[in-house]
Amino acid sequence: APTDTFAERLLAWFDTSGRHDLPWQHPRTPYRVWLAEIMLQQTQVKTAAPYFERFVAALPTLPALAAAEQDEVLALWSGLGYYARARNLHATAKRCMELHGGDLPRDLAALVALPGIGRSTAAAILSQAWGDRFAILDGNVKRVLARYHGIAGWPALPAIEKQLWALADDHVASPQLPSTRMADYTQAQMDLGATLCTRADPACVLCPLQHDCVARIDGRVAELPTRKPA
Ligand code: ADE
Ligand code: SF4
Repeated sequence: APTDTFAERLLAWFDTSGRHDLPWQHPRTPYRVWLAEIMLQQTQVKTAAPYFERFVAALPTLPALAAAEQDEVLALWSGLGYYARARNLHATAKRCMELHGGDLPRDLAALVALPGIGRSTAAAILSQAWGDRFAILDGNVKRVLARYHGIAGWPALPAIEKQLWALADDHVASPQLPSTRMADYTQAQMDLGATLCTRADPACVLCPLQHDCVARIDGRVAELPTRKPA
């Protein structure tokens, strides 16, 4: 119903229309979630999926990745581009062997301290791998929130980004978001941004947020989020 909270409507939409068969969801281990999130930083799901399968088949655990030769890691990454991601992945695996007993740390600050992991990626790992209550704010989520709340201003500006993080945190604090559903909630936001609330021509008529989306109500969907100033 339109009176339901942002989180409730997103979860109901996710149950019928979200993506439930992504390779890193079965099984959803911290290592697999981390690897997927690094691949998905600059690569679309459809492209990343076969690379993900090949990578985990060759290096199924964090200790296996840490022990691999740099050349093997780069060969498994070959074709995905942005090779700094592969070098950071390898460095992070080695650091987790030294500092965290061969596991990824279940801690936001400890994750952010590792190469290649920013705040949103750390939050995506914690929420999806362990169900911890953290908001994410990647490019997709920035676009959804800027439109839903009618926030003008280039989202990369620190003041705008701060405002968007505060809104993302508000939604995550909703008592209507069950603790058992944090992984689904994180995935739901990414799926909405990737499949309905797309940059060009969003499918607002199918959107669970359409009835109180400020951009839609005010006819500002095409101008939000604000583009980078020239
Ligand atoms: N982009 C970043 N993380 C993602 C995920 N888990 N699913 C889909 N797209 C993503
Ligand atoms: Fe995006 Fe349209 Fe949904 Fe608003 S109604 S969140 S603009 S898809």
